[in-house]
Amino acid sequence: MDANEIRQKFLDFEVKKGHKIIQPAPLVLEGDPTTLFTGSGMQPLLPYLLGKEHPEGKRLTDSQPSLRLQDIEDVGDPRHTTVFEMLGNWSLGDYFKREQIENFFEFLTKVVGLDPAKIYVTCFIGDEKYGIPKDTEAAEIWQEVFKKAGIEAKVAEIGSAENGDKRGIKEGERIFFYDDKENWWSRGGGIDSTPLGDPCGPDSEVFYDFGEDKQDVEKYGLAHPASDGARFMEIGNQVFMQYRRLDDGSFEELAHKNVDFGGGLERIAAAAIGSFDVFKISLMKPIIDKLEEISGKSYDNNTDEMRVIADHIRGAYLLAAQGLAPSNKTQGYAMRRLVRRAILRALDLGISANFLSEIIPIVASNYEDLPDSILTHRESALNVLLKEENAFRGTLNRGLRELNKISSHNKILSGEDLFKLQDTYGFPLELSVEECYRQGIELTSGYKKEFDQALKEQRERSQTASKGMFKGGLEDHGEQTVKYHTATHLLLAALQKIVSPDIVQKGSNTTSERTRFDFNCDHKLSPEEISAVEDQVNEWIAQDLPVVFDEYDKKYAREVLKAHGQFWDKYPEKLKVYTIGDFDNPISREVCGGPHVEHTGVIGKFRIKKEESSAAGIRRIKAVLE
Ligand code: ALA
Repeated sequence: MDANEIRQKFLDFEVKKGHKIIQPAPLVLEGDPTTLFTGSGMQPLLPYLLGKEHPEGKRLTDSQPSLRLQDIEDVGDPRHTTVFEMLGNWSLGDYFKREQIENFFEFLTKVVGLDPAKIYVTCFIGDEKYGIPKDTEAAEIWQEVFKKAGIEAKVAEIGSAENGDKRGIKEGERIFFYDDKENWWSRGGGIDSTPLGDPCGPDSEVFYDFGEDKQDVEKYGLAHPASDGARFMEIGNQVFMQYRRLDDGSFEELAHKNVDFGGGLERIAAAAIGSFDVFKISLMKPIIDKLEEISGKSYDNNTDEMRVIADHIRGAYLLAAQGLAPSNKTQGYAMRRLVRRAILRALDLGISANFLSEIIPIVASNYEDLPDSILTHRESALNVLLKEENAFRGTLNRGLRELNKISSHNKILSGEDLFKLQDTYGFPLELSVEECYRQGIELTSGYKKEFDQALKEQRERSQTASKGMFKGGLEDHGEQTVKYHTATHLLLAALQKIVSPDIVQKGSNTTSERTRFDFNCDHKLSPEEISAVEDQVNEWIAQDLPVVFDEYDKKYAREVLKAHGQFWDKYPEKLKVYTIGDFDNPISREVCGGPHVEHTGVIGKFRIKKEESSAAGIRRIKAVLE
């Protein structure tokens, strides 16, 4: 059974069990303060899980395309993808644990045809601090369900995943109790991170066993369901949403108890073909085949690259098909990142010409079964992506042409040559080095040192130039102040990283000539601390990090984005947040009205001129850009 069939069979099955099919939500959330992209099937149903009546009734089902950029660094392994479909069914205060567990087991074993002996499950061990009991009810139901399938399922107390790595599985064990890191579900993660006001509860996860020999014990420890190893893969999660977190942090039982089930379509499809590698399923394999054809390389030897490319192009297509275009703002920036990462990884495979026009139609046809109501811009998707590919390719090609020009004059390229390529043409050092290697162009043995030296000299030159401008009165005050402003955000981030994570801003004043910044700190900074902070800020400047902003709800900015802010009580309900660096793992994130530079590379060289006391427990730094 392939993935498209599994999707259809799932919906048919749920309809037979009394569910109504609802339209999935768009992936790109417009003006939703809580999140940028839909990341799970329950997200659009939040109000109904909290008690609001749904027009379609109490039993709902759909297949929800979802995007989780927080997983982007994991893509490349056999099971992680940023984009996936989540098969969902919900009981809004209707059936509860028994019916859910029985039905999902029936779907997996009778409809998809999975071997019941390969199914393992986990339940919640309970939490004393919050008075949440152990979910013995779910475990008992599982025991009965396995018994009916002729399997004697033993129960084991694992607790933490680390404990599982040491302990492994003992003979006959099939149902495992874990702590809240594994078996508590809220939009924030574990029990302490449950967002205030959100519905949440214990969950029971279902795993497929891909075989004893799949676990790399040395790397991951002994196999158990929540292990990171390659024996077990989670294929579905049944959340028993029976609590809501109150503003004081405690949990109250909901008057009506819900079921929120989410199953990874791609992963169930992988189990159906007995492959631990989700990139082998019908929604992925044609993309991989095409990449093999275009690159003339094999998937087996270039697994990581091909997985990243396939995943990112799928994500970029789904976003484009919903009307999003690449830009430098949050959602569009995320999309741009997907496209660029895919193109760079394709370069690793030796694909240096445009190739999206060959891949996108395959992705589009894989997604033909998704409703038009969410893929509203199928027609224009290809062009939007080709345009982005062209633009990025332009940058890369100019760099390549220049590299070839230089290498036709010089037999051996130096670090200065490579610096020029990066500085003038935006062609990154790593790419130059790779390209030279590919073409057999020789590099000087000290090219890296020469590159760093050239970078340093260039900084010194621009210092002198900006000093000159100061004197001549040519300085553009607006622009210089904006640079200082962004540098101030970097300064706070560096202080938090190097001196203490507890440092907050206690005051700041930025002009076109310096920044003055006050912060809490119990000691005078040592010369070592000062120079480490300076170096850190300069390193971030050299990395030329993007600076992006967007508007959010106050609560979301504070609790989910964890933005730094000084005056939470005084802020309006909607506020602007500036992020520097990778959106999912930023260097700095602050509530701020702006304006800021668009990327840190333009700031110049940062130097701390003075560190002094400002008031009791408050230090003051004066710093300049040179
Ligand atoms: N909402 C649950 C999840 O995302 C089903 O895992």
